[in-house]
Amino acid sequence: MATHRIYLYPIWIRIWHIINAITFLLLVFTGIALHYATTGTGLIKFETAVNLHNICALLLTFNYGFFVIGNIISGNGKYYKGWKKDMTDNLWTQAKFYISGMFKKESHPFAINKERKFNPLQKISYVAVMYICMPLIIISGLGLMFPETIIGQIFKVSGLALTDFLHQIMAFVLLIFLLVHLYTCTLGDKPGTLFKSMINGYHEEHE
Ligand code: HEM
Repeated sequence: MATHRIYLYPIWIRIWHIINAITFLLLVFTGIALHYATTGTGLIKFETAVNLHNICALLLTFNYGFFVIGNIISGNGKYYKGWKKDMTDNLWTQAKFYISGMFKKESHPFAINKERKFNPLQKISYVAVMYICMPLIIISGLGLMFPETIIGQIFKVSGLALTDFLHQIMAFVLLIFLLVHLYTCTLGDKPGTLFKSMINGYHEEHE
């Protein structure tokens, strides 16, 4: 069986991704410690959790800027654009593959190539995560880091409480994304194939 290799993950995307993944995991760990600060998780000192959370948040924010600028100036941004009229059909076709097709050993409905790096479900989730959830968690996080910038009251509700609520909702949504992301990343030719792609840059599949 011949192996087909396409270079899809340039070095800058891989550097962005590893920094993003590490800072994200540290933010989840320290964020949980801060969330349960009153009862205490006993895993890390409160002061250390605050400092580590702030440092990782700033690193993730600069790294996010690197992702946005990189996508604008390199060709990678094109994979996040372009929604065709048959999008709903395509999303459903991909969902049916994940729900049943792949268990019947059917082949992937959308071939991956230089023009199409992501399947429709990957594309919609990456766009939502990178261009909606990440900006919202970063902006609300910066608000909490500099509370003097937050509006005092919005419709008689504390602006600080609303910002905190938005931050926690986004953290929850992104954590769910990460769990689904890790699972779907095991659905390449072999469970480790896609993880290998993010290390050597090459998407691999058997013809
Ligand atoms: C331990 C953590 C993580 C692992 C092991 C991991 C693994 C992977 C792998 C194997 C790919 C390539 C396969 C594919 O195209 O889907 C990928 C791509 C991607 N991941 Fe992750 N990921 C992690 C965390 C994250 C997080 C936290 C985010 C965002 C908040 C994220 C966003 C993305 C995006 C946007 C891509 C596509 C990048 C591009 O090629 O333009 N990942 N990830």
